[in-house]
Amino acid sequence: MSDSLRKYRLSLISSLIAFLLFQLSSPNLVAQARPDAKNLLKQMTIEEKVAQLSQLPGFPIPEFIQQVGNPEAVIRHFGAGSVLWVSDPKQINRIQHIAVDESRLHIPILFGLDVIHGYHTIFPAPIAMASSWDPKLVESAQTVAAREARAAGIAWTFAPMLDIARDARWGRMVEGAGEDPYLGSAIARAQVLGFQGTQPGALDRVLACAKHFAGYGAADGGRDYDSSYIPEEQMWNTYLVPFKAAADAGVGSFMSAYMDLNDVPASGNRWLLHDVLRDTWKYNGFVVSDANAVHSLITHGYAFTAGVNMDMASGTYLKYLIAEVKQGHIAMKQIDDMVLPILEAKIKLGLFEHPYVDEARIPQVLNAPEHQELARTAVQRSVVLLRNEQNALPLSKSQIKSIAVIGPLADAEADLLDMWGAMTKPGPTVSILQGIKNKVGDSVQVEFAHGPNIRRDIPSFFENIPFVPVKEQPKQSPEDAKKAFDDAVDLAKRSDIAIVVLGEIALMSGEAASRSSLKLSGGQEELLEAVAATGKPVVLVLVNGRPLDISWAAEHVPAILETWYSGSQAGNGIADILFGDANPAGHLPVSWPHNSAELPLYYNHTLTQAPEDAPGFTSRYWDALSTPLYPFGYGLSYTTFSYDNLKVSQSEAKVGSTLDVAVDVANTGNRAGDAVVQLYIHQRAGSASRPVRQLKGFQRLTLQPGSKQTIHFKLGPDELQFWSPALKKWVVEPEAFDIWAGDNSQAKLHTEFRLTQ
Ligand code: BGC
Repeated sequence: MSDSLRKYRLSLISSLIAFLLFQLSSPNLVAQARPDAKNLLKQMTIEEKVAQLSQLPGFPIPEFIQQVGNPEAVIRHFGAGSVLWVSDPKQINRIQHIAVDESRLHIPILFGLDVIHGYHTIFPAPIAMASSWDPKLVESAQTVAAREARAAGIAWTFAPMLDIARDARWGRMVEGAGEDPYLGSAIARAQVLGFQGTQPGALDRVLACAKHFAGYGAADGGRDYDSSYIPEEQMWNTYLVPFKAAADAGVGSFMSAYMDLNDVPASGNRWLLHDVLRDTWKYNGFVVSDANAVHSLITHGYAFTAGVNMDMASGTYLKYLIAEVKQGHIAMKQIDDMVLPILEAKIKLGLFEHPYVDEARIPQVLNAPEHQELARTAVQRSVVLLRNEQNALPLSKSQIKSIAVIGPLADAEADLLDMWGAMTKPGPTVSILQGIKNKVGDSVQVEFAHGPNIRRDIPSFFENIPFVPVKEQPKQSPEDAKKAFDDAVDLAKRSDIAIVVLGEIALMSGEAASRSSLKLSGGQEELLEAVAATGKPVVLVLVNGRPLDISWAAEHVPAILETWYSGSQAGNGIADILFGDANPAGHLPVSWPHNSAELPLYYNHTLTQAPEDAPGFTSRYWDALSTPLYPFGYGLSYTTFSYDNLKVSQSEAKVGSTLDVAVDVANTGNRAGDAVVQLYIHQRAGSASRPVRQLKGFQRLTLQPGSKQTIHFKLGPDELQFWSPALKKWVVEPEAFDIWAGDNSQAKLHTEFRLTQ
């Protein structure tokens, strides 16, 4: 035996011993080698294939068990594509062992959970993260969310939600990036990158899921699950845009939506799932239905042929699909095409080599202090200062002796996480009251009064669902409510200043949480007015998932801070803003209506022949405004900025050219702050009416007092094209264009250019 052969054998033997020792010391952590998806598919029976097309519920749903039996028995016999809603790592390991050790082909399960804005460290809700106009921050936050979730055994998240939302009555506005396709796309890309990274098989990343495909946010009347009617032109130009961005960023999966789109169920909609997603975009990941959505399609097999790979939790595929194939109604080739991307995703994620959770490592990952630091930064960067008369904010610790912290959300914790944040495994949450106390220390007296409880009055079945972690505030007698009200006003009277925290408990927004009115409910408006009537300075801090009707406050309360649901570090981050340790620069990702009568409301509507400010007949209400209280893109700072010298590189250019747009931004105040520079365009004429304005560029940057910077944007075919309903295709047209730059969608600084043939 040659020397090299001996060495080779020796090293082989020692590797084998090391491997066996490792296996003995941590039997949970070793699995199989990475297979080839196509070979694996060849070995599978029809039952095993359909099991891969199924996501099984992780807790006993009686209807599911009736249809297909106990999920664990299914796993033992055939395996499973995925299991949903199990977050306990011990359970994950136990169930994974059934799949890997006991099922014939040992294919690991892909555990999926809604890790929407954090797993243990909860970041601000998606609408808040979008308010930061900071894709890098969004990417970093989802990187942390992925790291924590994966360490705990979750390899697939049902995020990002990319539904454009133009109607604040729709409760799920909180889960997305707002009303705009351009901002929505930037945030979509950042989230996909944060969740998935760029390294296939990295063990600190998860598979992302672009949902809910598509048009879910346009539900009739803002009623969740109700039909959406969206013309094809709007689909291409608005609703599909963030989904395309996610697909281009390599998102590993899509989720089909619940509702009917133009009278065809989205989860059985061949145009969406086949013509757009597969044929036009050449998407090769897999599609999961929304929960139970396949079952809701009365005609079984319909969704399957339309293009849903995986049935979420309804058991319909398991019940019907095997027979459909055996009877020749569905070709095996079709089944294979549906299974393959699921196997490929599992392989890419490294699940075959690493199917189990290393339970000992979890605390170390979840408790990393830098995660909490990032969450605090995220709060500072996402809150939006809506009003600040006479520089009411920031507050000065040295000039205030006593603070009244008032309101039904001032001491809230779980509510600050919103429904999804509370549903994973959140760590401790800093309430706003606690954050203020932490900030001022003992030098200032901080007292709290809750005021009357607020409730949604949900049906009791909802409150008893074990996995709905957010709760109602208890019912109160009128006497108790009156006493709580009076106590709060008394506290304001004897304090130097009142910080009033109002809005929505978590149950009031999110899924199945549509509202007809945006009013501050449960007597909160009256409480605010009574506190303001004491004459003490008042700061209104809003905690909510959608714009609310704050018309009164917008005229009478000097300082208003929109904080959305801002997560684990809510209190600390908000106190940083209140006391000037951070300068707010969040900007609204939605138009803020005066009240719900204005809805749907969005800035990028097309021209009307009779705009609101025209003389004579106008297209709008005669008894109410139709303009927003605060426009899309709006947000104040503790400093001021000026915008000048808007210049376009060419005043005339050929279709297909890319122009450079430059604008000077200067910090004209006396403290450092972030400007969010926004670029809007309007195409004056063409084959279709074009929106009065469209966001086509933005940049958030820090400027020291007195400093100035020139910001550049590109306007090329990607920004100038649109899908023309007249021509039924994407076009860039030889027309005149307006450009505006500034700090919201009503910016005045203007220039223009023309494209020629
Ligand atoms: C929601 C989805 C979610 C799924 C799984 C559904 O009810 O619409 O957004 O991902 O449940 O929890």
